[in-house]
Amino acid sequence: MLLLLVAVLLSYTLFGYFFVWFSIAIGIYLVWHLRQLDRLLEWLERRLTGEAPESSGIWEDVFMRLYRFRLRNKRRHKRLVKRISRFQEAAQAMPNAIVVLSHDNNIEWCNSAATKMLGIHTSHDLGQRLLNLVRHPQLVSYLLKADFEDPLVMPSPVNKERTLSVRLVAYGDDQTLLVGRDITRLQHLKQMRRDFVANVSHEMRTPLTVINGYVEMMRDDHSLSKQESQDMLMRIDEQSTRLQSIVDDLLQLSRLESSSSETKVRSVNVAELLDNVISDAKELSGEQQHEISADIDRDLNILGNEIEIRSAFSNLIFNAVRYTPDKGQIMVTWYKNNEGVHFTVRDTGIGIPAQHLARLTERFYRVDVARSRHTGGTGLGLAIVKHVLQRHDGELEITSTAGVGSLFSCHFPLSRVTKTS
Ligand SMILES: Nc1ncnc2c1ncn2[C@@H]1O[C@H](COP(=O)(O)OP(=O)(O)OP(=O)(O)O)[C@@H](O)[C@H]1O
Ligand SMILES: [Mg+2]
Repeated sequence: MLLLLVAVLLSYTLFGYFFVWFSIAIGIYLVWHLRQLDRLLEWLERRLTGEAPESSGIWEDVFMRLYRFRLRNKRRHKRLVKRISRFQEAAQAMPNAIVVLSHDNNIEWCNSAATKMLGIHTSHDLGQRLLNLVRHPQLVSYLLKADFEDPLVMPSPVNKERTLSVRLVAYGDDQTLLVGRDITRLQHLKQMRRDFVANVSHEMRTPLTVINGYVEMMRDDHSLSKQESQDMLMRIDEQSTRLQSIVDDLLQLSRLESSSSETKVRSVNVAELLDNVISDAKELSGEQQHEISADIDRDLNILGNEIEIRSAFSNLIFNAVRYTPDKGQIMVTWYKNNEGVHFTVRDTGIGIPAQHLARLTERFYRVDVARSRHTGGTGLGLAIVKHVLQRHDGELEITSTAGVGSLFSCHFPLSRVTKTS
């Protein structure tokens, strides 16, 4: 501008006509401004990307300020994107299903757990109505009711075997967050607890009914012979022994669950323990004449609670005797290899059909209730074995073929091995 003024003054002193030179200078100045405006518009059109156009005077200042403003914005934008993606990552990592819903229940966002539990995919379901995708009558009425105090319990639309607890939380501008939790395990535990109480009552009721029946007969029928009374007392004795063994097993289980696993832990001479259990098993077998053989590493001792280990090992050996027909073979081994220490009981018994294997260690679970009741079993033995092994860092493995035989193996880690004696 200064240059133009100087040029106007110079031209005026040389040639006169001040207003002419002045108008020409104003015109040039205007054209320059328009040109800068044009460059600014062009730069704005490119969303201020790239370097600022070079300029001078007031326009240089304008371009520089805009450039700095853009840099600041860019940095802020980056920070925000980072923060949002951190939140999204955290939400993705959540084990619970999370679905962000708009005011009219359209899906705005969901995490991968929502895909697994509800079958909603971010790739093609965003913007869709939730109820079009998850068509569950209970969910429809839950959404319509708009009272989200209590969660809704419903089967997963992806897998009917799994149960979900769904809760809606209102937040922000009329938005809702759907949070889904897989409660299958919890439901299963609740069911097991209910079954357990029902089973205990049932198991206790049977011998009690028998005892009551005989006691009433003996009280009311005075014509009973001495022999008949004797027989009845024998039956009563049998049933009360059964009751006693149920109560003993339950108490043992509850002790295993409540006491610390470190009680009375010492080096257990397993070979000696097995000698005793095997001789008891031979006695149990009696006239059934099972062929019981053993291959025992006599120098292999482990750290543990002797009473608990005896209880677990004897449960497995007695089971083999009980569920193997007369003259069947039972083989017991106790050995160590690179993977750990192993106790196994193999029998040529009735075996267990595959569908029962997974549930065998549940309390009161029996494959053939009538048969195991006949042999005096309560269905608590393997539950005790499992607990004992857990307390000794061990694992129970069961393989069996119906009609051929079974193999029960207890695996302990090498860290449990103590000195050789
Ligand atoms: N060696 C085996 N061969 C075939 N079936 C077996 C064998 N061991 C266990 N079972 C099956 O598993 C069920 C559960 O065994 P578990 O030891 O828990 O109970 P139980 O022997 O019936 O009673 P308890 O041991 O409490 O006196 C048994 O009822 C039986 O049906
Ligand atoms: Mg048993």
